[in-house]
Amino acid sequence: MTTVTPFQVSGEINYDRLVTDFGCTRISPELLTRFTQVTGHTPHRFLRRGIFFSHRDLDVILDRVEAGLPVYIYTGRGPSSGSLHLGHLVPFVFTKWLQDVLKAVVVIQITDDEKFMWKGLSEQDCDRFAESNIKDIAAVGFDPARTFIFRDFNYVGNMYRVVCQIQSHLTVNQAKGIFGFTDSDHCGKFAFPAVQAAPAACTAFPHLFGGRKDVPGLIPCAIDQDPYFRMSRDILPRLGLPKCAVIHSKFFPGLSGDGKMSSSEGATVFLTDSKASIRSKVGRGFSGGRDTVEEHRRLGANLEVDVSIRYLEFFLEDDDLLARIKADYQAGRILSG
Ligand code: TYM
Repeated sequence: MTTVTPFQVSGEINYDRLVTDFGCTRISPELLTRFTQVTGHTPHRFLRRGIFFSHRDLDVILDRVEAGLPVYIYTGRGPSSGSLHLGHLVPFVFTKWLQDVLKAVVVIQITDDEKFMWKGLSEQDCDRFAESNIKDIAAVGFDPARTFIFRDFNYVGNMYRVVCQIQSHLTVNQAKGIFGFTDSDHCGKFAFPAVQAAPAACTAFPHLFGGRKDVPGLIPCAIDQDPYFRMSRDILPRLGLPKCAVIHSKFFPGLSGDGKMSSSEGATVFLTDSKASIRSKVGRGFSGGRDTVEEHRRLGANLEVDVSIRYLEFFLEDDDLLARIKADYQAGRILSG
């Protein structure tokens, strides 16, 4: 069985099916052409290669950008371990690029409260993980003048009015339906979705938007986080605020080649790993190479299942070089090593 929720991703993932089930929209070639027309920039490799593949209202954001009206970008991280892994780079690298291209303010939420409640982290670990994760995120290269990174434990008081407005529009039945909570879950879990939804309202940041109520947020994330923003899009208009827009990515796979890279699985490449350790981990990743050199030269690699090829698709910028490597590997001219 396939599960894709903010709390669990498992099984074979069919992205077409998710688009239908979640009720979002595939990013079409026409939308990418419009993106280029409006911004003057060639789409990022994540867009060219269908890694960011689905959206809600990206066209509305482009209309505003074209009209010279402000938008902002909102993303986040739940600090569950001391270091980010390669999969986490996907939304952050993309957000940095969007910031450059749209010249927009970026807000980044660090949900230390979420991990305190879901993972039972000690307060010490919450502090340690949040601090070191913020350094990993800052290292992606955001524009310091246009970026606001905040920890819920420190900032929540500033957006508590918005949190309460959202909470009072969300029934327990709805929270159960959207997030799968049960009667045995503690109240903190029921209260949390409004905290992740609040930064999708510009009124959560009076110091950035001067009390304006009309600036919509665009939220890049992997598709597991969508339920929070489906919920936000339902509630924000009832508060007199614009719906947030969302742009969804596929999952960066773990070393076994399927599912999503995750901090809790053993086969994870962390940003703090040494070069030697990364080389060794990736070298042991699932390979589409054949059992013997003779067979490989004759049949070529199976690109569909090869982890290194997947990783190059995410991180190698040069389209021509990627195409050449794929062609040579598939023809057996280069070996897995
Ligand atoms: P977290 O810490 O689980 O993940 C942080 C971001 O990374 C994405 N992600 C991945 N993307 C591609 N491949 C993977 N293998 C992979 N694993 C994780 C997640 O979708 C997420 O975008 N509750 C959130 C924190 C949060 C947030 C937000 C995320 C708060 N506000 C707004 C996105 C947008 C969390 O625990 O994410």
